[in-house]
Amino acid sequence: MAEPSLAPLMLGIAGFGTVASGLVRILTENREAIFARAGRDIRVKRILVRDPGRQRAVSVPEGAALTTRMEDLFEDADIDVVVELMGGVDIPLLLLERSLGAGKHVVTANKALLAETGNRLFALAAEKNLHLAYEAGVCGGIPIVQTLRDGLTANRIQTLVGILNGTSNYILSEMSTKGMAFDQALKQAQALGYAEADPTLDIEGIDAAHKLALLIRLAWGVDYPCSRLSVRGISGVSPLDIAHAREFGYRIKLLGHARLVGDCARDSGIEAGVRPTLVHESLLLARVGGAYNAVRVEGDAVGSVFLHGRGAGDMPTGSAVAADIVSIARGAGPNNTGFVRPALPGPARIIPPLETYSRFYIRLMVSDTPGVLRDIAAVMAENGISIAQVIQKDQAGGSYGGEAGDGRAAPGVPLIIMTHEAYAAGVYKALRTLTDSVVVHEPPVHYPVLVKRS
Ligand SMILES: NC(=O)c1ccc[n+]([C@@H]2O[C@H](COP(=O)([O-])OP(=O)(O)OC[C@H]3O[C@@H](n4cnc5c(N)ncnc54)[C@H](OP(=O)(O)O)[C@@H]3O)[C@@H](O)[C@H]2O)c1
Repeated sequence: MAEPSLAPLMLGIAGFGTVASGLVRILTENREAIFARAGRDIRVKRILVRDPGRQRAVSVPEGAALTTRMEDLFEDADIDVVVELMGGVDIPLLLLERSLGAGKHVVTANKALLAETGNRLFALAAEKNLHLAYEAGVCGGIPIVQTLRDGLTANRIQTLVGILNGTSNYILSEMSTKGMAFDQALKQAQALGYAEADPTLDIEGIDAAHKLALLIRLAWGVDYPCSRLSVRGISGVSPLDIAHAREFGYRIKLLGHARLVGDCARDSGIEAGVRPTLVHESLLLARVGGAYNAVRVEGDAVGSVFLHGRGAGDMPTGSAVAADIVSIARGAGPNNTGFVRPALPGPARIIPPLETYSRFYIRLMVSDTPGVLRDIAAVMAENGISIAQVIQKDQAGGSYGGEAGDGRAAPGVPLIIMTHEAYAAGVYKALRTLTDSVVVHEPPVHYPVLVKRS
């Protein structure tokens, strides 16, 4: 006997820009494949825009209409799912609260909204037993949300580390492979559409921090407020340090990282942040080039899992949004945080940045005089820092000619130190002491180092 066919799943989409256009194209072009997997048709009824007269990248789907009234999405009894693809925080928050309140499932690609509003929307969705899906919000087309929530659900996650922002990765890749200065690489990224006119969210690490907060919630079931993450962007990265890093066998990447410290859920803390990091060239993360994203997750049972792909763009991001919609169409119950007990994440126990430890790359511009290295080594030792490698460049003959990142002649010569694992507190204290010393001519540069484990 043939199974009765389910009614189509009806969508109201907020926004008809880059991601919504990709979604509409995928739902139209892959309709048969999606029907075979979802078991029912997926149709668009309304699309919310600011300017209905604007030329669109794709046609409004058959049977759908544009609207400028938000209420047309959540007040329409035919609409099952509200898909928020407009961006911003305040208006989408209002839209999703009203939609959940009206009994609609919601799907969003908006990481800023979910990271900045904490548990608010998750609490409402849990209370109403509705889907709040956000695969597209973390690394666009890479299915990292589903991987953490479902695929790795039987693991205790130990670390997460990833290239979570394509714009920054593109800029650092161009600086590294073509020797460009930061400003030049940024202008090129803007000309190619990889960076916004105002690139602050991307280059200062804020977008990566939004995604990291969502990943931490999925990995450990805790709420780590974005505002508490230690975040450092790439605008200060100089070609000089990129070149020195290469000489040691490293690439500089903007990494979001999080690590469980201790192994018992009750007394464990989380060490997390976003920062430029030297990544050893033997690691897959070092080879992620251009505007790509990647995430490495380590679980106690599975070991290391590496996901790589496009973190943005109409079709990759639309693919992730469509996957969330298909899950809802199949009729599975909501699994928004990946945790059933407790359904809502409690506060994370945050390890303060000064208590974290790693290897460090340090560049000092020092006087080219006898005894300098001995004095610096003494300050390092006083602060519990053990030096693994040191290189001193000579001003005239060195391959970098003693130039600062902006091309001006730098005072002193570069002294590059690679440390063994050290506490950040000790490193910062040593660097403060050295900054005040007469032999160090500029504020020291320092980055953590990600090495291949033996
Ligand atoms: N672009 C990507 O590759 C990407 C990747 C991952 C996640 N995301 C996230 O996806 C979301 C959408 O990004 P996008 O790049 O598609 O944005 P976009 O191209 O700027 O499109 C935004 C759309 O939302 C509509 N809109 C904005 N504010 C509105 C308002 N107050 N009332 C009615 N309509 C409004 C705009 O209408 P008009 O067209 O009429 O102005 C436009 O159609 C953002 O949260 C973004 O962070 C994007």
